[in-house]
Amino acid sequence: MKIAIVGEGGHSKVIQDLISLLNGYEIVGIFDDKYNELELKEKHYIGPIKAINQFCSFFIDTKVIVAIGDNRIRKSIVSRLSLSGSTYITLIHPSAIVSQKATLGIGTVVMANAVINSDTYVGDHSIINTGAIVEHDNNIGDFAHISPNATLTGSVQVGDGTHIGAGATVIPNLTIGAWAKVGAGATVIHDIPDFSTAVGVPGKIVTKKMEV
Ligand SMILES: CC(C)(COP(=O)(O)OP(=O)(O)OC[C@H]1O[C@@H](n2cnc3c(N)ncnc32)[C@H](O)[C@@H]1OP(=O)(O)O)[C@@H](O)C(=O)NCCC(=O)NCCS
Repeated sequence: MKIAIVGEGGHSKVIQDLISLLNGYEIVGIFDDKYNELELKEKHYIGPIKAINQFCSFFIDTKVIVAIGDNRIRKSIVSRLSLSGSTYITLIHPSAIVSQKATLGIGTVVMANAVINSDTYVGDHSIINTGAIVEHDNNIGDFAHISPNATLTGSVQVGDGTHIGAGATVIPNLTIGAWAKVGAGATVIHDIPDFSTAVGVPGKIVTKKMEV
């Protein structure tokens, strides 16, 4: 399977490592706006993000992953690329445990040692990061990020674009709204509205603002 990666920052490095562990997967291109033009460099092509459409029409069986950790930037790049959904690949680290009764969207990545249990749904272009525990019956939107070692205990709703910080815990049956942020190490015991930031133990809302 030929894979083109969009983005070459820290999150991309982890995804490159993940792909290197998957039999039959090969990185054929890395696209980032620090590059000006498409060129072959050692084992793969490099080029600006706008070159990816042309690249995919030439190498027609190439799958794409947008490997950018920031949820808003990841979303804006996916919108900008306008690639068909079937062009995107879903990646699961070999050490992750994903229930056969879980559903993962396109362009979503599940990192090392993460666990996703039964009847959990994860939307498109989301990140379930290293060691995150996503228990049963959770529903996670598109462009979300569940950070390393965060825990969604069960039947938690996480909106589109929401970032759950490293090591945070959300107790069962809560709703964390869209484009919200939960601070690293927080323990969330109440619902969090859209566009809000909550921190601490127990989690308290520190900002609530509309962002565009
Ligand atoms: C919660 C978070 C998103 C807030 O970032 P921000 O919007 O820039 O907000 P600020 O840094 O201005 O902090 C706002 C307030 O919350 C406090 N705060 C921020 N993060 C906190 C945290 N994790 N725990 C407790 N308090 C925190 C700040 O001290 C500040 O308090 P003050 O107003 O009394 O000074 C960020 O601090 C955070 O924890 N991000 C998670 C990062 C992470 O896990 N990344 C994983 C990458 S893989």
